[in-house]
Amino acid sequence: MLSHDIIRYLQDLMPKRETVIQEMEDYAQEHRVPIMDAVGIEVVLHVLRLIQPTRILEIGTAIGYSAIRMALALPNATIVTVERDQERYENALFYIERTKTAHQIHALFGDALEVSSEVEKYAPFDAIFIDAAKGQYQRFFEMYEPFLAPRGVIITDNVLFKGLVAAGDGIENKRIRSLVKKIRQYNQWLMQNEAYDTVILPVGDGIAISRKRGEKQ
Ligand SMILES: C[S@@+](CC[C@H](N)C(=O)[O-])C[C@H]1O[C@@H](n2cnc3c(N)ncnc32)[C@H](O)[C@@H]1O
Repeated sequence: MLSHDIIRYLQDLMPKRETVIQEMEDYAQEHRVPIMDAVGIEVVLHVLRLIQPTRILEIGTAIGYSAIRMALALPNATIVTVERDQERYENALFYIERTKTAHQIHALFGDALEVSSEVEKYAPFDAIFIDAAKGQYQRFFEMYEPFLAPRGVIITDNVLFKGLVAAGDGIENKRIRSLVKKIRQYNQWLMQNEAYDTVILPVGDGIAISRKRGEKQ
């Protein structure tokens, strides 16, 4: 993972973000909402700028930070985003309104493991961003990959989870230990999934980028 000095250096180089975006970052910090970190979101946005998706699915809206950042970076894209926490969902609607991105973002309220038939109405997606319950990543992947366009990209956040995924086995907290085990299993499964080419970038909290292979390689 990147050292604190490198993270600070990169953050200092980044252009200043709009006031509302900064407000969202402050809100998230104050209310302990786990939005994407400054370096991680820039990497995801840049990958998306290179792919130029027109439809994106996001699992895990929280207060709409990453969805809004994607909408602003990709004015021609529409984003379907799913959140199961009512307060966060309502906050997301508030910020979507304030950033005038409502014409691009369809925010759905519900558990991503239960709303696939609703999501399917917006398919296919050129990119899918998985950023919700870390213990369920493989289920999200398997549930939504049928909605991925040919040669589409699936991005998964937190695959190195605070560096713990690559550390030894001395984690004392049982819940964290179990979570780390599940993420390790997901990473193994993902890297061995022959339908995709996957790279794990040690930036932010660890970002996996998986591109669906074509018929002929
Ligand atoms: C890490 S936050 C998302 C952050 C957001 N992508 C951002 O960077 O601005 C994860 C969110 O996923 C939501 N979540 C977790 N499991 C979910 C599920 N099964 N269905 C829908 N939302 C879920 C949580 O309530 C939480 O708000």
